Amino acid sequence: MARIIGGIGTTHVPSIGKAIADGKQNDPYWSPFFRGFDYVHKWLAVEKPDVAVVFSNDHGLNFFLDKLPTFAIGAANEYRNEDEGWGIPVSKSAAGDADLSWHLTNRLVDDGFDLTICQEMLVDHAVTIPMSLMWPGEGAWPVKIVPISINTVQHPLPSLARCLNLGRSVGRAIDAYDRDIKVLVVGTGGLSHQLDGERAGFINKKFDLLCMDELARNPDALTRYTIPQFVELAGAQGVEFLNWMAMRGALTGQVTQVHRNYHIPISNTAAATIVLENAGTAARHAA
Ligand SMILES: [Fe+2]
Repeated sequence: MARIIGGIGTTHVPSIGKAIADGKQNDPYWSPFFRGFDYVHKWLAVEKPDVAVVFSNDHGLNFFLDKLPTFAIGAANEYRNEDEGWGIPVSKSAAGDADLSWHLTNRLVDDGFDLTICQEMLVDHAVTIPMSLMWPGEGAWPVKIVPISINTVQHPLPSLARCLNLGRSVGRAIDAYDRDIKVLVVGTGGLSHQLDGERAGFINKKFDLLCMDELARNPDALTRYTIPQFVELAGAQGVEFLNWMAMRGALTGQVTQVHRNYHIPISNTAAATIVLENAGTAARHAA
């Protein structure tokens, strides 16, 4: 049976892609952020996942404001990137696990999550940058992916509780998947930031740290925030944390935070990385 090894949450700021392309990982500005991935590389080298289920939000490469699903899942064997206009190079493609995608889709629809199913799907920097951070270097990434897109852009957005429950449904579906594979769950984006308006540049370290603490030990506590309250506390784009909520939901009730890095700022964003190890499936049912 499939087994979830754990979850990773990471920022996906476009300028990280430019820093990677320019080889600036050891520059003083970038080093505190990239050093946060040293542990991630060691952890992944030991755990060796076969597939990564990646929760992220599209930034207009695949969906636009005229048609923007609340939840969408890729069901393809390859996911291409294209020029997004951020000045970052076009990324290599990611291999997909379409069989797992369809398994998740069937289970999620049964569970009341009516996803948009994308047999062709472009993936933007919200997928490709985390992949490049987790597995740097040349050559193909060593995992297949299942991308799940959450609308964090155009209101009304799904609630924190809805995204946590989406992740829980994904977690149960993976538990029931009859292939002997190890699955990593990833949530990308955030943490606090706002790109425009009177509060452009807004960062809230205290709230970010609270979110990371609660995410590990009691994610349900975070569902007390409405989306407007969360925007007020984390910034208009800080709601990308919804992807982290879904990642956490896919893990069992008991997790161990084995790594955390928090650095201000990357561009105008609070940059964070977290690694959560998953307890056994028995803990999910006990949760
Ligand atoms: Fe983003």
